[in-house]
Amino acid sequence: MKQVMKVVNFAHKKLWTGGVRMDFLKREYIRSLSDTRLLSEIGLKGHNCLDTVGAEYEYNSSFLKSLINEAKKRKIKSENLKWARRILADKNEKKKFRKRDVDYGMLKKFADIARKRKSVRWYTAQKIPVRFINEMLSCAVEAPSSCNRQGWRFILVQDENDRRFLSEIRNTGFIKDAPLVVCVLIDRQVYNSKNEMKYTPYMDAGAAIMNILHAASSSGLSACWVNFGEAEVSSKNMSRFRKLFRLGKNLLPVSLVTVGFAAQDAPKPRREKPEYYTLNRFR
Ligand SMILES: Cc1cc2nc3c(=O)[nH]c(=O)nc-3n(C[C@H](O)[C@H](O)[C@H](O)COP(=O)(O)O)c2cc1C
Repeated sequence: MKQVMKVVNFAHKKLWTGGVRMDFLKREYIRSLSDTRLLSEIGLKGHNCLDTVGAEYEYNSSFLKSLINEAKKRKIKSENLKWARRILADKNEKKKFRKRDVDYGMLKKFADIARKRKSVRWYTAQKIPVRFINEMLSCAVEAPSSCNRQGWRFILVQDENDRRFLSEIRNTGFIKDAPLVVCVLIDRQVYNSKNEMKYTPYMDAGAAIMNILHAASSSGLSACWVNFGEAEVSSKNMSRFRKLFRLGKNLLPVSLVTVGFAAQDAPKPRREKPEYYTLNRFR
């Protein structure tokens, strides 16, 4: 069904921009979407509206209007809808900037945070303030994602028994010592095709994880990214994990991030100079 709809969507786009409307097929496609998929399509088409001009914008905004109407019919309430309506109201007018300068002051602050960040695997038992956790999550969701899909999902694990369990199935001792373990998952429902599933969701999750790591190291906390997938956890243990956290089949765990106050210092692993990694010559 998904594949058929993809073809319909593609054909519809081609023919619409050619002047022929395939309203019936579009309507059927929109009706076939679950509420979650509908909201996700609204996010995607809203994103496409921001990204396009001319005929393509006309196509995207018309599609977005139909999606919004369907959500209205289903009485779905969501911030996503308000945002999409605002995008339609704003049309496609983008602010133009005059010539601007690099803000080296801000860059220095960010560079300090990036250089200071390192993986820490020893934690004190000191609890993490809720205010930090909220800020950390709001940094995580500011990350970029492919077509703004935002397929990342998080489980905050603070319970001692749960942390012990994660430590055991991941076979990594320090997980249980971290007062907070963020389990990062991806929601497969948000991605359209098998091809898209190959690596895009993992990159989306990685971008969010980077913001979590920077939120921690910029505020005196420490963190470590820990792989948590098929390669690291046996399928039997992964099933136990899915059961314990009652994960729906759309959710795929990809990583853990341990967060806490460092119990001891450790040197940051060495990096080469940027030239080493840069394949073209630059000055
Ligand atoms: C995708 C990814 C997976 C990682 N998985 C683990 C892990 O399973 N266990 C661990 O101790 N560190 C893990 N790390 C942390 C790396 O070992 C660490 O980033 C690297 O050695 C560089 O050190 P630094 O982070 O202190 O700069 C992972 C890092 C990344 C980016």
